[in-house]
Amino acid sequence: MSLRLARLGSRVFMWLCAFMTTNNHLCYVHVCCLFLFITSFVMQGYCPSRSAVAKFRAEAVYIEFMKQWNLGVYFSLRFQEIAGSLDSALLVPIQISHSDKGNSQHLTLNQSATLLECLMSCWREDVLVLSCSDKFLRLSLQLISRYSHWLSAGLAARKAGNTGSTPGSEWALSAVPDDFIYIIHDLNCLAERICGDFLGHVVELLSSSSSDVLDLVKQSILEGGASLKDLIPKVINSIIQTVVEKSVEDLKQLKGITATYRMTNKPLPVRHSPYVSGVLRPLKTLLEGERATAYLTRDIRDELVQGAALEITGRYYELAADLVSVARKTESSLQRIRQGAQRRAGASSDVSDNNVSDTDKICMQLFLDIQEYGRNLSALGVEAVKIPAFCSLWQVVAPMNRQNAISF
Ligand SMILES: *[C@@H]1O[C@H](CO)[C@@H](O)[C@H](O)[C@H]1NC(C)=O
Ligand SMILES: *[C@@H]1O[C@H](CO)[C@@H](O)[C@H](O)[C@H]1NC(C)=O
Ligand SMILES: *[C@@H]1O[C@H](CO)[C@@H](O)[C@H](O)[C@H]1NC(C)=O
Repeated sequence: MSLRLARLGSRVFMWLCAFMTTNNHLCYVHVCCLFLFITSFVMQGYCPSRSAVAKFRAEAVYIEFMKQWNLGVYFSLRFQEIAGSLDSALLVPIQISHSDKGNSQHLTLNQSATLLECLMSCWREDVLVLSCSDKFLRLSLQLISRYSHWLSAGLAARKAGNTGSTPGSEWALSAVPDDFIYIIHDLNCLAERICGDFLGHVVELLSSSSSDVLDLVKQSILEGGASLKDLIPKVINSIIQTVVEKSVEDLKQLKGITATYRMTNKPLPVRHSPYVSGVLRPLKTLLEGERATAYLTRDIRDELVQGAALEITGRYYELAADLVSVARKTESSLQRIRQGAQRRAGASSDVSDNNVSDTDKICMQLFLDIQEYGRNLSALGVEAVKIPAFCSLWQVVAPMNRQNAISF
């Protein structure tokens, strides 16, 4: 009697399974529950002895059923569906998300919104199977790590200037610094949501687990959230790199100073050069942009400004020091030639009527320039004196009587 019932039950399930396979695997979890309910019914109520249970389990249909429809299969279907939807969101260029708009805590990029959506899916009532919760936890952590790999690979490609051997990072090459402001915002936001309501939801679902297990779950989710936050400095650096490259294009114009003063008899300069106004413009434009004003926190803005100022000043120092050193070398070789010519001509020295050399003029021009640059830095909230490269720059170009005190 019980065996017949079991056979009947199994056959019903075989039929249901076949139906589900051809129709919609999403309903599988319900079938599974029903199956578990009936098998326990059969075992507890209708199988009078242990041997009857063993017999039921040995039934070919039962074995076949378990093989075909075990939780592993169910999980791998879910895995493909959830991970697949994140993967396809990460394959397209950066996309602004329009869901949830108006909320200051909303995720700005479709990629980030998709990550959160996928994380939530893993723990949705109609998806999660509690006995597989370890697998769903692992999947959640994998989703976070896929997102973070997507971002790291993009940043690396940007740094290298090409996608190199990391396919899927093309998006980063076409991204502009403003896009990275969105990314910073999203990383902060994601970390907050993951360590906040997402963690709370998971812990609630697993509340019947032992406290050891719950601690591990909490720890791993918190680590996942923190790993996203850890990417922020790299993103800031990437923005800085782009800004610095643009600034350097303007800085390079200072090379023209040599041609302006070398053997041209121009008087000592009294005004800064036009190129100076371009040096900090890319940074200023970025900071005053709509995205930066809406999404950059005070701290991140400061980090960005200080970091960019440090790099730009370093490049400024290198270019200026190089220019001055070449000017000095040229000056001394010219002087040797002049002195040689005078000796041959037997003329008395008349060098004294020109006590301001071309190099002095070049240095004076640079000196005026870096003072303007220093004023522009301070308008952005950066104290030039605190930047070692600025002090070195000052020493290279300041006249003797201004060497000791940096002020402008
Ligand atoms: C992301 O973009 C895709 C395609 O535009 C859209 O179908 C999907 O709903 C978006 N996801 C989110 C979370 O905004
Ligand atoms: C630099 O400062 C001058 C005035 O001191 C200002 O006119 C100019 O716009 C500033 N440039 C930048 C890029 O901040
Ligand atoms: C150049 O020499 C003259 C006279 O020797 C002096 O008055 C002047 O201050 C000097 N200029 C500089 C820049 O040293």
